[in-house]
Amino acid sequence: MGLYRSIARPLLFGLDAERAHELTLGALGLAGRLRFLRGTLRRSFVYADLALETEVAGIKFPNPVGLAAGFDKDCRLSNVLPDLGFGFVELGTVTPRAQPGNPKPRLFRIRESEAVLNRMGFNNHGAKEAAANLKAAGRCRVPLGLNLGVNKDTPGERAHKDYSESLDALRGLADYFVVNVSSPNTGGLRLLQSRINLERILTEVRSHNAERKPVFVKLAPDLEVEHLVELIPLILEEAQGLIVSNTTISREGVPERWATEPGGLSGAPVRERSTKLISEAYRMSGGRFPIIGVGGIFSAEDAWRKISAGASLVEVYTGLVYRGPGLVREINEGLAKLLRQNNFKSIAEAVGRNHPEVARK
Ligand SMILES: Cc1cc2nc3c(=O)[nH]c(=O)nc-3n(C[C@H](O)[C@H](O)[C@H](O)COP(=O)(O)O)c2cc1C
Repeated sequence: MGLYRSIARPLLFGLDAERAHELTLGALGLAGRLRFLRGTLRRSFVYADLALETEVAGIKFPNPVGLAAGFDKDCRLSNVLPDLGFGFVELGTVTPRAQPGNPKPRLFRIRESEAVLNRMGFNNHGAKEAAANLKAAGRCRVPLGLNLGVNKDTPGERAHKDYSESLDALRGLADYFVVNVSSPNTGGLRLLQSRINLERILTEVRSHNAERKPVFVKLAPDLEVEHLVELIPLILEEAQGLIVSNTTISREGVPERWATEPGGLSGAPVRERSTKLISEAYRMSGGRFPIIGVGGIFSAEDAWRKISAGASLVEVYTGLVYRGPGLVREINEGLAKLLRQNNFKSIAEAVGRNHPEVARK
């Protein structure tokens, strides 16, 4: 992490945040084409440990630390991202048709809060191009999730069709799919978290999911607990698990000047909110479906708290911006140590350990 903090981060933070992101994607794309560099990346970043291997929703993961959605929206980097040590990668959000997203600037660092505010608005080249990119890259070395969303100009009553249309275009290319109903940057999207709307989407997705790939529903951290209660039976019936959480619309934990800036907040300010919701979802479901925990993970201890609250896997995004790519290995090494300290033989044994009242599956 030293080199990132002392050299790469000051350079990247000197640039506009979206420009820095594009440069990072470009550098990774280049690295993906250079064999010797990929070997170097793997030696630096991949940490293998039997105790970290885990199986969730019938998929085998080499470690529980994944990349969160939104980093590689067009699915261009599925060959090189595993070289950074991720146990799985979630790409997208992909919408059926290409769209430019919101006007720039739309991505901001809030350094004093170790946060990012984004209102990208699902900028992407559409499901067909994502499929072509994935096919060109060949098989991903770690499990791959594809996160699906809705085009900005799709009327609410047709939203469910956008998920199935993308799923059709991406069939055969993912190990799991994510129904994203929680981005704050597409008007009306979070209304799809209502039981009736979500049921319609999940039924539609099921009828197109011929390969029966696991489907996870990604929720907002701002969801009320009463609302979550309604969703649990539906998830149990129609999906395989939850991703908790997306960015927050709250402005707690950031300076006042950001109060009126539209967008979703990630990083440190969303950390506790998402852990709390993971805990609620685990408790209410009795641990009967897997939860992928995401939001403000900057260390192994942060990941451990989410796992203890009920997450079977975790994902990172904003932590990478502040801590660099070495974060993935640091979390994995730290988790392996925490497992040993607590006399657990596997991650699965640690999942939900804060809930002794929940009978284990
Ligand atoms: C710049 C940016 C873009 C994002 N784009 C998406 C997206 O397209 N789809 C999605 O489901 N989540 C998206 N997210 C949310 C992340 O996947 C994650 O849920 C959230 O940022 C909380 O995790 P973090 O604190 O580790 O970043 C985005 C986050 C950021 C910072």
